[in-house]
Amino acid sequence: MNKKALVTGAKGGIGSSITKGLVEAGYRVIATYFPNGEAKAKEWFEENNYSENQVRLFPLDVTDTSFCKEALATLLQEEGNIDVLVNNAGITRDSTFKRMSAAQWNEVINTNLNSLFNVTHPLFDSMCQHGNARIINITSVNGLKGQFGQANYSAAKAGMIGFTKALAAEGARSGVTVNAIAPGYTGTPMVEAIKSEVLDSIKAEIPMKRLAMPQEIAGAVTFLASDAAAYITGETLSVNGGLYMN
Ligand code: CAA
Repeated sequence: MNKKALVTGAKGGIGSSITKGLVEAGYRVIATYFPNGEAKAKEWFEENNYSENQVRLFPLDVTDTSFCKEALATLLQEEGNIDVLVNNAGITRDSTFKRMSAAQWNEVINTNLNSLFNVTHPLFDSMCQHGNARIINITSVNGLKGQFGQANYSAAKAGMIGFTKALAAEGARSGVTVNAIAPGYTGTPMVEAIKSEVLDSIKAEIPMKRLAMPQEIAGAVTFLASDAAAYITGETLSVNGGLYMN
């Protein structure tokens, strides 16, 4: 029977490559999408020629605690257990802090950080009981170094790293590893939305002088999910072309 992975934000810029990488590695992927995006999710599923056995589309509002609790309890009954959880869903609401609204702050904290509780909590006990499971949190170079215009996003992404270390300590005795991946600037619609002159100045600072390709982030996920990574936990793996070395 296939191992099962749940990927949040699965049809997004990086999520789509993560899903593809895990399917290619033999996983059945539970691909979550924001509930009002069903038509687009089906389109994505068909464009990628996935079979029902490879990918199950699963509506999930990662900001809604009780929705996640109920939906993920039902999922566990239907699927048995989840071997790999990839907390990937994330948004930006960039603004200088002076101009940042409470809504911009809260939307980013809810989607990027509170989602970790909402999605991981309903699955964690079952993962501990089955053992040999993986939780992989997609944070960001900007959670490590801080970024002008991203006080909300940098706070959430740094919070993900603290969560990763704390949960790694709790999961270790049950064989549940918890790690983070910190992508640098990656060629996705999120990064393409940055003003071109700002993006050019960011690119100029990257020692490799290019953006990451989404599949380069997905490769790190597949590695951390694999048996080869069984003894790595609490770690943050940077995939950033040398932009920040910590
Ligand atoms: N450091 C210091 N000063 C900076 C700066 C920086 N990095 N960036 C801009 N400034 C300065 C500008 O030079 C400008 O100064 P002057 O007023 O003296 O000209 C001032 O700050 C205002 O800058 P903007 O003109 O850019 O202000 P804005 O209000 O039009 O835009 C912003 C603000 C939306 C935050 C814009 O600066 C921006 O998009 N910055 C990039 C944010 C970013 O990197 N986002 C990443 C998104 S992708 C992602 O998040 C994925 C991931 O994980 C990596």
